[in-house]
Amino acid sequence: MTHDAGTTWREMLSETTAMLGSEREARFLCEHAAGLDATDFNLAQNETVTQRMGLHVHEMARRRLAGEPLQYVMGRWAFRRLDLLVDSRVLIPRPETELVAEIALSYAQRVSPTRVIVDLGTGSGAIGLSLADELPERGTSVWLTDDSQDALHVARANVAAIGRRGANARIVQGSWYAALPESLRGSVDVIVSNPPYIADGDPDVEDIVTRYEPHQALFAGVDGLSSLRIIVDGAREWLRPGGVLVCEIGHRQGSTVSELCDRAGLTQVEVRRDLTGRDRVVVARA
Ligand SMILES: C[S@@+](CC[C@H](N)C(=O)[O-])C[C@H]1O[C@@H](n2cnc3c(N)ncnc32)[C@H](O)[C@@H]1O
Repeated sequence: MTHDAGTTWREMLSETTAMLGSEREARFLCEHAAGLDATDFNLAQNETVTQRMGLHVHEMARRRLAGEPLQYVMGRWAFRRLDLLVDSRVLIPRPETELVAEIALSYAQRVSPTRVIVDLGTGSGAIGLSLADELPERGTSVWLTDDSQDALHVARANVAAIGRRGANARIVQGSWYAALPESLRGSVDVIVSNPPYIADGDPDVEDIVTRYEPHQALFAGVDGLSSLRIIVDGAREWLRPGGVLVCEIGHRQGSTVSELCDRAGLTQVEVRRDLTGRDRVVVARA
């Protein structure tokens, strides 16, 4: 790929598309380098690409061609209303997790005048920060936890990036409930989590996922349930009576996780499906 003085964004897009074999990905990289959204980028097609921007596109395209996920190459990804910093320290937020945040939000919105939300295993902060961003500023506390200090560095950067809207977010490190202060025991309104739920060595996981994303964010023992067991078992103790647990699950885990919820003394257990019709979220009440 060359960069001649006078190259327009139209030419840069077409070269990058040829290089990557994907116009969608080429657009993401060009829009990112240009610092423009899709609409403004379309309007800028005849504008000249500066040398610095051209080099940036080349470097990102090189990394992408070497196999790195597009989201890590760009260093950011959209989740609901947020534009999150993401890199190899955190899981790339997935579209199906937006549904998990949506369900947690719908329960949290019914709690008034104050609401306490916990996002266990927050990674980039995708779920918890969406709740901090979308719930009323007044009366909301959102606790973001993770065992990985690396992940929490990214979450902290994302809290800072959303400015005032992140003022209700508190970040704490530790394994699942051990991260939380004792004062929250029995008083949480909504516990939300997208924990690791893939079985160790699952052959169906794509190579790009196992090569680049943190294994601590993906794998959960021989049956993929080791994290979900801990989260479900502790939920009744940390939720207030009537509080809600909302957990993302693997598409074959609906009935097993429902049973775990029943056995943990949770009630009104439901499995919700994602847009592809597959089991995706378990909701249960204390
Ligand atoms: C599937 S990722 C989800 C990240 C983010 N919530 C999202 O939805 O994009 C699971 C997260 O759980 C964290 N995690 C793994 N084991 C943990 C533990 N024992 N305690 C707390 N967090 C843990 C990982 O570091 C990772 O950030």
